[in-house]
Amino acid sequence: MNVALQYGISGRTASAVAERAERAIMEGRLPPGGLLPPVRGLAGALGISAATVAAAYRTLRVRGLVAGEGRRGTRVVLRPPLLLRRPPVVTPGARDLAEGNPDPAWLPDLRAALRRAPGPSGLYGGPTFLPALRRLAARQLEQDHIPAASLAVVGGAMDGVERVLQAHLRAGDRIAVEDPGYAGVLDLVGAMGLVPQPIPLDDFGVKPEALEAAVAAGARAVVLTPRAQNPTGAAFDEERVRALRAVLERHPDVLLIEDDHAGPVAGTPALTLAHPRKPRWAVVRSVSKSLGPDLRLALLAGDATTVARVEGRQALGAGWVSHVLQAAVASLWTKAAIDRRLRDAAQSYTRRRRALVEALGRHGLTAHGRSGFNVWIPVREEAATIAGMAAAGWAIRAGEPYRIQSPPAVRITISSLTLEEVPRVASALAETQDARGRTPAA
Ligand SMILES: Cc1ncc(COP(=O)(O)O)c(C=O)c1O
Repeated sequence: MNVALQYGISGRTASAVAERAERAIMEGRLPPGGLLPPVRGLAGALGISAATVAAAYRTLRVRGLVAGEGRRGTRVVLRPPLLLRRPPVVTPGARDLAEGNPDPAWLPDLRAALRRAPGPSGLYGGPTFLPALRRLAARQLEQDHIPAASLAVVGGAMDGVERVLQAHLRAGDRIAVEDPGYAGVLDLVGAMGLVPQPIPLDDFGVKPEALEAAVAAGARAVVLTPRAQNPTGAAFDEERVRALRAVLERHPDVLLIEDDHAGPVAGTPALTLAHPRKPRWAVVRSVSKSLGPDLRLALLAGDATTVARVEGRQALGAGWVSHVLQAAVASLWTKAAIDRRLRDAAQSYTRRRRALVEALGRHGLTAHGRSGFNVWIPVREEAATIAGMAAAGWAIRAGEPYRIQSPPAVRITISSLTLEEVPRVASALAETQDARGRTPAA
């Protein structure tokens, strides 16, 4: 079939072809991971020059929609920065252990907090950081030994990470990322045209020698998750902090970004590689997992230049994070029993996580989950495991979007898993692996 017709791509100029191809990606005619038509084939079909099609593909590459070129072809990236029309991941009726959300039962009721927000709407020209929230933020971060001299408030952990990356890096710059790591970060890095340098990790975070190697390979920045690492649950301990700090001290120009997305419900203490003498750093602490993702709010601590750049750029676009949300978070943080409630939530998540890791262990399966909402289980085949689990009524997540070079695995979110469900989900997973083991050799 004519390739242009097949994908619904038309146009005579590079911008028109790029726009139609983008629409084909959005509408699923060019699916994530799919090959774009060869440059010459499409040029022939449209009756335009190969140079025009190549220019269109370059535009798509700069937009972070496609990657690769030359003999191996140009492919749609696995998670293009577009809201795609995709079928739901969770099959109807399946128990959802895939989504990665906090347990709604542990999230506070926002109505009381919102009732305490200021009556009249705020106006332009107010403070970007509500003083009451800033005071609480500084106290909380300083308690965790995170320097709080320069602070900003941003729209969630990912907004903070993106803003810090934009403040310091340009397309083509190399950046060290955890492998496996949060798909959101890997996708963002791709969408910004940054070149990911994968660093393997164990249960205590990235390995120091691997970080050193990534920096030697040219990484100008590193994004690390100090606890509740998604997907493996890794969390720093004191020893790892010392070792990683020593690496970063040898390379003071490397920008450090810490994504503390789970904060107080991670289940392990707050530890950080940041310190006041470090030239370029940021720690982003979100309230998404502890108070609710819809609050879209995170604290951002960093060196003075980084924070000034983030706030300066924010002022030109979004302006500030709504004072309604800031006041709600301040109000929730000053509620009498809040510390107790967050501690209980963290303990409840920890019980669920440990129960699943131990149950899988009893089936002879290795599982990782030192902190956070997820358990990561290495498997031989992701697709077969996911399908087997779906057939047994459990929706879990394939490891692929989280991996660059690391081996296959699946992710189970434990945040809403009940202790009663644990043995059933563990034996269902064990069965998917046994079934594979018994498949006769071809
Ligand atoms: C590692 C990591 N970072 C960031 C986020 C998103 O956080 P936020 O809602 O604060 O942007 C998630 C969400 O699960 C995550 O797992």
